[in-house]
Amino acid sequence: MRFSRDIKIAPSILSADFADFGREIQAIEAQGADWVHVDVMDGHFVPNLTFGPPAVAAFRKHVKTVMDVHLMIAPVDPYIEAFAEAGADIITAHVEAGPHIHRTLQAIRATGKKAGVALNPGTPAEAIAHVLDLTDLVCVMTVNPGFGGQKFIDMRDKIRSLRAMIGDRPIHIEIDGGVTQETAPLVAEAGADVLVAGSAVFKGGSVATPAPYGENIRAIRLAAEAACGAKVV
Ligand code: DX5
Ligand code: ZN
Repeated sequence: MRFSRDIKIAPSILSADFADFGREIQAIEAQGADWVHVDVMDGHFVPNLTFGPPAVAAFRKHVKTVMDVHLMIAPVDPYIEAFAEAGADIITAHVEAGPHIHRTLQAIRATGKKAGVALNPGTPAEAIAHVLDLTDLVCVMTVNPGFGGQKFIDMRDKIRSLRAMIGDRPIHIEIDGGVTQETAPLVAEAGADVLVAGSAVFKGGSVATPAPYGENIRAIRLAAEAACGAKVV
């Protein structure tokens, strides 16, 4: 996976039809998704429950791009191997999920996968100042994790701080929660390059009528690219 800061759209399948993940994944990739964002929730770290390694392994059969697995679970370490086996390309752990984020990122890297670290809205950017060399992606939560369709929480100051901390290291800044055509430019201008969107991508479409997925992805991408002066073709 060659590193690039070009804007990438990563639809979250938390907003997909839970009875049809395979075809939903095929549809969003056909409609322009760059990555597929998979929200794993354990009903303990976050007040919701989604899916585990067996489901993620099933999703893997349909993902042709990048499977970006967001672990909203605690503890994380006992499950890293299983999600790597399931086929995740990126495994993201929350810095708040346990006392040893340095060890957790080492463990993710040891599986050969890309290592991500996620920060809840209340967590400062400085929390990851000492693990940047173990990090391939920083996920900035712009909602309190657990559900799709929530209101965007403005984290532009944190994004700017992270962008400065990262410098020219090959580390993605991913934004997760409440990303829409309206909020995408705000975070892109502040320095983000990966935009997770669930409800804003899946709204108005379905496996049977996927065109709105493509329209939504394009609208978010163009709004972000216009804001950060990236190529707008
Ligand atoms: C929330 C998840 C997000 C969520 C995004 O806990 O981590 O990925 O699915 O959904 P929207 O884009 O609808 O806020
Ligand atoms: Zn997520």
